[in-house]
Amino acid sequence: MEKIIVTSALPYAYSVPHLGNFVGSVLPADVFYKYLKMKGTDAIFICGSDQHGTPIELAAIKKGIEPQQLADEMHNTIKGLFEKMECTFSYYGKTHTEQNKETVYELFNSLKDKGFITPTEDMQAYCDVDKRFLTDRFIEGTCPYCHSPKARGDQCDECGMLLTPTMLIDPHCTICGKKEIRFLKVKNLAIALDKLQGKVSDFINSRAQNNWSKNAVNKSLGLIKDGLKPRDITRSMKWGFKVPVEGYEDSVIYVWFDAVIGYIGITKEFGESIADRYWKGNDTRLIQFMGKDNIEFHAIMFPAILLGSEKGYILPYTIKASEYLTSRSVKFSKSQGVGLNIEAALQILDADYWRFTLMYLYPETADTEFSLEALKDIVNSVMNDKIGNLVNRVLVIARNNASVLGASGEEGAIGIDAGADDGISSIISSYKANFDKLNIREALRDATALAALGNEIMSSSEPWALAKNATSDVKAKEDFVRIVHKLLRIVFDLGVLLYPFTPLASSKILGYFGIDGAPSISLLDLRATLDTSKEIEILFSKITDKEMGKLRVFENRP
Ligand code: MF3
Ligand code: ZN
Repeated sequence: MEKIIVTSALPYAYSVPHLGNFVGSVLPADVFYKYLKMKGTDAIFICGSDQHGTPIELAAIKKGIEPQQLADEMHNTIKGLFEKMECTFSYYGKTHTEQNKETVYELFNSLKDKGFITPTEDMQAYCDVDKRFLTDRFIEGTCPYCHSPKARGDQCDECGMLLTPTMLIDPHCTICGKKEIRFLKVKNLAIALDKLQGKVSDFINSRAQNNWSKNAVNKSLGLIKDGLKPRDITRSMKWGFKVPVEGYEDSVIYVWFDAVIGYIGITKEFGESIADRYWKGNDTRLIQFMGKDNIEFHAIMFPAILLGSEKGYILPYTIKASEYLTSRSVKFSKSQGVGLNIEAALQILDADYWRFTLMYLYPETADTEFSLEALKDIVNSVMNDKIGNLVNRVLVIARNNASVLGASGEEGAIGIDAGADDGISSIISSYKANFDKLNIREALRDATALAALGNEIMSSSEPWALAKNATSDVKAKEDFVRIVHKLLRIVFDLGVLLYPFTPLASSKILGYFGIDGAPSISLLDLRATLDTSKEIEILFSKITDKEMGKLRVFENRP
C-alpha cells in the first residue's frame, strides 16, 4: 500500500516562530497530514528543531550556557507551542542527536567515497573587534543582485538569492556592527554539485509535475540552467557535528547539510524500523512543505546528497513552497521584528482562530498581506457569522422541534441520511480534489462554501416560519423536516471538512452527533445521528475590541 511522509521545514531552535513561519510550512503540513489521516492513508508527519548554526552558538555564549542546553530548551518551548496550536506530528525531533549524526556521517562518507566531496579554499570573514570568524549569517551588507541593504552572507531575504559573504557589497559584522572585517583563507569541504548536476536535473524534470508549487519548479529549473557549483558543507565553528576527516578538527558540518538530513535522522529518532519502512520503501511519497526561501535546499541540495550517496533513501516526491506572509507589505521576520509570534498569538486567541485565519490567507501562490483588520474580518464575518451562527441556529431549531423531526429514545436521536443534496456533494468533491492536488487554501474555501450553502437554504426556506405551521399543515411539516434534515447534514459534513483546519470546532460539532476523536472522511457517506439532548455551545466568538487592543500591543512594528 502507498505510504506518505509529510515533512515541514525544521524551525531553527533559537527563537519562537512567528505567524509567517507557522503558515509557511508547519501549519499547511499539519493540515494536509490531518486530511491524509481522515482518508486512512498510511502516513507519518515528521518535523523538529534545526538545532545547529551560529545564532544558537552566539546566543548561548551571551547567556553563558552550552549551545546544547539552549537548543534543547528552545526545542521544548517551540514543541509545546505547536502542540497548543493543535499540531499532531507523528514525531517532533531534533537535529542534534546520535541518530542524525550517524545518518550525516553515513551520507557524508558515501559522498566522499564516490568522489563527490572536494576540498575548497574560502575566504572567510574575520572580525578584528570580536576576534572570531563570522559565519555567513553574521555578516551583512548590500545584495549584489537586488541591492537590498539588508542581505546576509548566506542569503538575501529580499530577492531570495543564496549568497556567499564575499559577494556582499560593503559588509559589516552583525555582532559589533563595525566594518573591521578581514577575509582570511580557510580550508573547507564542499559537495560537488557540479558533478551531480545531471542527476539533479533529471530528478527535477521527472518529478516537477507531482503537484510541485510553481515557485519550486521555476526556482530550481533556473538554478540548474545557471549551472550548479560546489557548495561548502563545513564551517570553522564549534557547535555542530565534527567533520570526520583529518585536518578539519576545528570545523563542523555546516548546519544546512545536517538539517536536510535531519528529516531522516528525526524519523530514526522516532524509530529505526519506522525509518526503514518509510524512507527505504519505493512505494513511499515524500511530500515536503516549506517557505520559498528553502526551495534550493530541498529541490537541489537534499536530492544531490541522496542521489550522490546512493544509500537507498527515497527522494522528494512533491516540493510545496509557500510565498511570504507580509505585514504592512514587509515579510514577517524575526530578526527585523516584523509580525506576531505564535506564543503571543496563543495568549489572545485559541488555536482554531489562528489555524483558520492563516489558512484562509495561506500565501499559496503570491505574497499575502496579514493585518489585524483582516484577522478580525475573517474571525467575525466568516468563522462567527457564516459558520458558527449557522451551526448554532440549525442545532437550536432541531432541538426545539425534536418531536416534529421524529426524534426517538432518551437522547432524542434524529437520524440524518447522507447525500441529501447535489449542492453538498459537488462541494465535497471539490474539497477532496483540491486537497489531493495540495490546493489547501482552496479546500478551506470549499468548506466555507458549504456553510454559505447552508445559509442560503436557511434564508430562502425560512424553517422557523415553517415550524410554526408544522403542527397544523402537513405540507409545511414535510418541508420543514426535509429542510432541517438537509441543514443538519450540512452541519455534520462541516464538522468533518473543518477537521484539518479547526480540529477543536470540528470535535464540538461532531460531538453533537456522538462522534469522538479524529473523524474519518467516510463519515460523509454514512448516516449520522444527532443527539438533541446535548447542551449547545457557541462554536466561535467574535474578536472583541479588548482582544484587538492586546493584539496591537503584541504586534511589533518595524
Ligand atoms: N531552519 C530552517 C529555517 O527555519 C529550515 C531548515 S529546513 C531543512 O528556515 F530542511 F533544512 F531542515
Ligand atoms: Zn538581494
